[in-house]
Amino acid sequence: MKIVKTIAELRAELLPLKKAGKSIGLVPTMGALHEGHMSLVDASAKENDVTVVSVFLNPIQFGKNEDLDKYPRRLEKDAELVDAHGGNFVFAPTPAEMYPDGDPLTLVRDETMECLYCGATRPGHFRGVLTVVTKLFNISGADRAYFGKKDYQQAFLIKRMVKDLNMPIEIHTLPIVREASGLARSSRNEYMNDVERGAAVAISKALLDAKASYEAGEKDVNRLRSKIQENVAKAGGVVQYIEIASQKTLFANTSGTVDEPSVILIAAFFGKTRLIDNMELN
Ligand code: PAJ
Repeated sequence: MKIVKTIAELRAELLPLKKAGKSIGLVPTMGALHEGHMSLVDASAKENDVTVVSVFLNPIQFGKNEDLDKYPRRLEKDAELVDAHGGNFVFAPTPAEMYPDGDPLTLVRDETMECLYCGATRPGHFRGVLTVVTKLFNISGADRAYFGKKDYQQAFLIKRMVKDLNMPIEIHTLPIVREASGLARSSRNEYMNDVERGAAVAISKALLDAKASYEAGEKDVNRLRSKIQENVAKAGGVVQYIEIASQKTLFANTSGTVDEPSVILIAAFFGKTRLIDNMELN
């Protein structure tokens, strides 16, 4: 396993491997790796000859008042984990390496979903994500890239971007990895104290509860949403949004009845920590 810091160096490493017909898997991350990330590395290592894990805290996807400065950074430990899980390269560029001219003039964005759900409260977030992901695809020339369903809207937008723009890469999405309590694993869980972390379990419980009601015949969107809202609020969470959206289009249900494969999307604060989670209804 090798840590590579520049684009030129990564290309020099990967070019001969590609020429020799080796397949390349890419796992884009912002570091502070945990089991959720490692499930993606495991899948890539299994399905490709070479696995590249990028560790890059992408400044252009963070708002001015967001947590870029306090986001956990620990490259050495990340590299050890990547090594233990069969990854071959950690690509850890600096912001200046990725954005030598400052903010890029050219951005990749969708003009519809970027304003919904997480996009509504994080203006510019998804265009920052799509732009950096496009750069990472172009830099690595990977054959496959791996994303988690934890960031459901992000994975949806990346799949759609690849399709819309005919990018020559296969996108694989993997299930949410959860703690034993049910809490979705996230680098941001570290921001919470023990009390908040215990309370935040209410999110996954509320989603599981909603899924059970749905499977027992409850298809009413408003009733499903209010029950989740109530359960999260009872635990001290402040809900930012709860939506039930089509898995196919990611548009929110407007019929009032869940009548197609859907997904419940939620963002809520526990203390100052903003958490997201989701649950598919099939
Ligand atoms: P980051 O939050 O580090 O996540 C990297 C990848 O790990 C994403 O695809 C995310 O969905 C996945 N992931 C995180 N927690 C997970 C969990 N509990 N279970 C399964 N997968 C999980 O998402 C980003 O970074 C950035 O926006 C990025 C795509 C790297 C662009 O900067």
